[in-house]
Amino acid sequence: MQAKLLGVIVFFTIFSSLVAGSQGHISVVLLGATGDLAKKYLLQGFFQLYVDQIDNGHSFSFHGAALTPPEQGQTLMFEALKRLSCSPDVFPDRCALLKDQFLKLTRYWQLKTAEDYVSLNQDIESSLREKGLQEAGRLFYLSVPPFAYVDIAHHINSSCRPKPGAWLRVVLEKPFGHDHESAQQLAKELHTFFLEEEMYRVDHYLGKQVVAEILPFRQQNRQFLDPIWNRHNVERVEIVLKETLDAKGRTSFYEQYGVVRDVIQNHLTEILTCIAMEIPKNGSNSEEVLKNKLALVKLLQPLEKANAVIGQYQGYNDQVREELQKDEHHFSTTPTFAGVVVFIDSLRWEGVPFVLTSGKALDERVSYVRVLFKHQAFCVSRSSKCKPQQIIFHIGHGELQFPAVVVSQNLFKPILPEESWQEVTDFSSQHLYGQPLSEYYVYRPLKEQDAYTTLITNIYQGKKDAFITTQNLMASWHFWTPLLESLAQEVPRFYPGGTENRNLLDFVISGREVSFALEQHVEFMTSDQHSQADSYKTVRSIFRGSQLVTAWSETLVSMLAQDIEVAAEEAVKHSGVFHLALSGGSSPTALLQRLATHHYTFPWKHTHLWMVDERCVPLTNHESNFDSLYDKLLQHVRVPYLHIHPMPVHMNQRLCAEEDHGAEFYAKEISLLVKNTSFHMILLGVGTDGHTASIFPHTPEAMERDQLVVLTESPVKPHWRMSFSLHLINKAQKVAVLVLGKRKNDIVTLISRVEQEPQNWPITGVNPNTGQLVWYIDYEALFR
Ligand SMILES: *[C@@H]1O[C@H](CO)[C@@H](O)[C@H](O)[C@H]1NC(C)=O
Ligand SMILES: *[C@@H]1O[C@H](CO)[C@@H](O)[C@H](O)[C@H]1NC(C)=O
Ligand SMILES: *[C@@H]1O[C@H](CO)[C@@H](O)[C@H](O)[C@H]1NC(C)=O
Repeated sequence: MQAKLLGVIVFFTIFSSLVAGSQGHISVVLLGATGDLAKKYLLQGFFQLYVDQIDNGHSFSFHGAALTPPEQGQTLMFEALKRLSCSPDVFPDRCALLKDQFLKLTRYWQLKTAEDYVSLNQDIESSLREKGLQEAGRLFYLSVPPFAYVDIAHHINSSCRPKPGAWLRVVLEKPFGHDHESAQQLAKELHTFFLEEEMYRVDHYLGKQVVAEILPFRQQNRQFLDPIWNRHNVERVEIVLKETLDAKGRTSFYEQYGVVRDVIQNHLTEILTCIAMEIPKNGSNSEEVLKNKLALVKLLQPLEKANAVIGQYQGYNDQVREELQKDEHHFSTTPTFAGVVVFIDSLRWEGVPFVLTSGKALDERVSYVRVLFKHQAFCVSRSSKCKPQQIIFHIGHGELQFPAVVVSQNLFKPILPEESWQEVTDFSSQHLYGQPLSEYYVYRPLKEQDAYTTLITNIYQGKKDAFITTQNLMASWHFWTPLLESLAQEVPRFYPGGTENRNLLDFVISGREVSFALEQHVEFMTSDQHSQADSYKTVRSIFRGSQLVTAWSETLVSMLAQDIEVAAEEAVKHSGVFHLALSGGSSPTALLQRLATHHYTFPWKHTHLWMVDERCVPLTNHESNFDSLYDKLLQHVRVPYLHIHPMPVHMNQRLCAEEDHGAEFYAKEISLLVKNTSFHMILLGVGTDGHTASIFPHTPEAMERDQLVVLTESPVKPHWRMSFSLHLINKAQKVAVLVLGKRKNDIVTLISRVEQEPQNWPITGVNPNTGQLVWYIDYEALFR
């Protein structure tokens, strides 16, 4: 409205009241009128519709409805109506007039019972009769939780359908189901009440100005895009929605959905189709647009677990426990972050990664689509051709504080409709997406408009391509459900939240797979940051009555290495020497490597290295635990020769002969050097049968109290072993048990439930007399 003079306003009002109704009457019913969405966006959207369409020949009435009783509901709704605003180009007087008119056309209803719907219908019909108006249509906007859909749908169909000739439009808000099956069930029920053409499923991202511009932009700039919008020229497409907020206060919803269902299955997938679909011959034909969208979704290559990485911000579990009243053992694996790479089976897009990323508690709030083009040549000159070439649909927030369409100047100068977009040229020295802003053409909307306002106009115009059809919805769920199922048991990577995430969530694409870029969080593990670091990457709790540290194996191993170094420093400080006994087996290998390559300040010079157990093979045999210790650690660090104590399994050219008294020799050596035969630290593992060191189930001789070192028998080759006794182990000042990998999940679960039964599961006999026991169990072993 550009009415700027009072006379024009008066004329306009008279004119519009003359034509209002000539094209028929539209009744708008907003269910959930007292809810947040209504207060924030929908009432404003309907007001804007009224303002924009006032001279287009339709008359309107607005019915706000909710379960709230009439007086209370009316007060709530009118409170919200008072805050309606006009766009800046409307003069205050005129705005007040429009608001007043809108209020007069608006009524509150309590809609609860079948009778309530019948009286609403009667009211609409009698008022049409009184005013002699033709009915053009009825619009029901369901801003209610999805469990209420079917009930409301039943009432609308039974008693609120308009007479033939007038349309019915029913608007639904997500979530539209939880997976393919539940979505199908809901769709089936809704279809018994409504025709497909009557249903408008909202994805409010499709109402965002920049998202709504993607297809028109592609059409208007065909001459430039046709040669480059393909796999030969596009390097990758990034579709990103980052939030700084977390799920606090919404965990009861979030626990059931998680990031993929919350935003990726719907918003980001819709954006992907806008970018990748074929443009129909007639772009203003909704049916053709929807058909091509569906065709694209059907071309998406099936997803597997390896196509995604998932994360969870560190405070999430506490929020879930508090808000859902779960006990401290409750552990949610719901992802709050995901990065997914999607490929499209088409000649145009074959091999081009579409990277979809979203998360809560991230370092910034921003959403955008970035199409990055390949560089075809290696540039020797500094020509502009060598600068990045990209097209960005900047949807909102981020460094650029306004929605914008952004094109690298070395690509082309885009064409955007002048009546709604303006070029921006006055930049500071800002950088955006890796380039100075001055190297882009930047266009922003002349007038920013909320997504819901745009969508409400689209519903009024019956423009269905801005909504989700049943077929498109099912195709999208069909695509996402297998990934959701395969991720259901995965433990997400924890991240601290905000800027502290640093590059913890960065991921790399190799071939068709993605993985986190940071395998080892080396930079977090310096000792002064230790306590801060372990607070977010690991879960500390209790296992079998002792301390439990758990994390991804890589993190866990670096934690343990760090803890060993701390123990070494303390021991050396107190007694000048550190006695460490190490186990064989596969689990400690990573630990030994870690110690060798990351712990440059470790007091090796004062460290004595002992073996917890040994196989009865020559020490140079590859099966020997000592050989592995030498290979992984000893040859890389400087431990004095006399501080290295291999087990004497090979004496007099015999292996573990009783007559050679190897076990007694080793025990004597320990008694001589280790004060009170109490090791500073002993590192143990656990076998899938519950054995530890080389103490196997049902070997009573290894449990005897009067021996420090024993010969034992193993069920697997080599059958003879030398081992610390449980008695010696339990004298240690610190015992660390390291358990890694899925294979150990069964035994971990089992020993978490049994009492002390060393005869059946020797590990349960590890119980230091006065020392400390700490379990280091990785996520795979703990949760599988
Ligand atoms: C929808 O309404 C029509 C007309 O009142 C009725 O015949 C039909 O049974 C209704 N559908 C359902 C599923 O109730
Ligand atoms: C494109 O589709 C619109 C909407 O269906 C229609 O009005 C218009 O005539 C079509 N244009 C062409 C060139 O077919
Ligand atoms: C030596 O070890 C025994 C058994 O663990 C313990 O009772 C005793 O107090 C220890 N003595 C010293 C000096 O640590």
